[in-house]
Amino acid sequence: MSTISPQPASGLSTPSTLLVTDKPSVYYDGGCPLCRAEIATYQQAAGGDSLAWVDAQACGVAELGSGLDRSNALARLHVRRADGTLLQGAAAFAEIWSVLPGWRWLARVARLPVVLPLLDVAYTVFLRIRPLWRPSSSIVDKLPLQLQRELRTDHAGETGAVMIYRGILAVSRDPALREFAQHHLETEERHLSLVEERVPSRLRSWLIPLWRLSGWLTGALPACFGSRAVYATIQTVETFVNHHYAAQIKLIDDFSQQASNDVRADAAAVEIAHELQSLRDLLEQCRLDEVAHRDDAAGRWDGHSGMFISIWRLIVARGSEAAVGVCRYV
Ligand SMILES: [Fe+2]
Ligand SMILES: [Fe+2]
Repeated sequence: MSTISPQPASGLSTPSTLLVTDKPSVYYDGGCPLCRAEIATYQQAAGGDSLAWVDAQACGVAELGSGLDRSNALARLHVRRADGTLLQGAAAFAEIWSVLPGWRWLARVARLPVVLPLLDVAYTVFLRIRPLWRPSSSIVDKLPLQLQRELRTDHAGETGAVMIYRGILAVSRDPALREFAQHHLETEERHLSLVEERVPSRLRSWLIPLWRLSGWLTGALPACFGSRAVYATIQTVETFVNHHYAAQIKLIDDFSQQASNDVRADAAAVEIAHELQSLRDLLEQCRLDEVAHRDDAAGRWDGHSGMFISIWRLIVARGSEAAVGVCRYV
């Protein structure tokens, strides 16, 4: 394996260095005892030395190569073929099996129609229960469970927020409304990326496709009826989100207060206190943006809801509450 200077790749992020190898590379989570044991089986099998094995927990960033960050590499098994194609999940397993002579029969079975998607479902279920075996490596895992659940709702909420504005942009041709949606979309994408940095894949909601769809509809449906309906919707959503973030900030303050009362403050407690403060700063930054979104929307319409808009706002407000309630657990 050798290292060369980076070459820009269209549509891919460019790491500081790229690894070039004539072998397929396997990126696995060396912090997970089950993953380690399985990988060791493949490494020791005939042909195991024809793959490059990369422990995504211990390797340098450059070793992950283009288009793969550490969080994703730890979340799911990845394989990069020698031609640079990146595979993940069941397809990555099938690629490993296809290289090892003693396992090729399994690769052939896995690549039969329908089998690979089913294996992917089974692998996703395994990833959900993997934390039972995997020692925690993320500070988020050390936060109180209640706060972890709240972070799951934040990730789902920011995912939905991005989709709301995409829904508006997909439907509306009103220049002022599109400029409004585009501006808010950029903020929501930044929120989502900041939250994704904090919330590992294993802590995220299982129902992300549902939250994406409902977010899109929450933007697209009112956009069919004009800008007033959209502004009323955004004002309602952002009012809810402001209260949601404010309640979480209060929760963090309560946890921080309890921690500061703990006389046994060791290094781990100090680390958690730092994380709580950092999380608080992030949520407050998001909350202030949501308040600006709410006020921006409120300033763009007269605030007089007819029956249709009133009913719609009620659906949006109650729907947001219900979604958060479900998302805490699923
Ligand atoms: Fe947001
Ligand atoms: Fe927002």
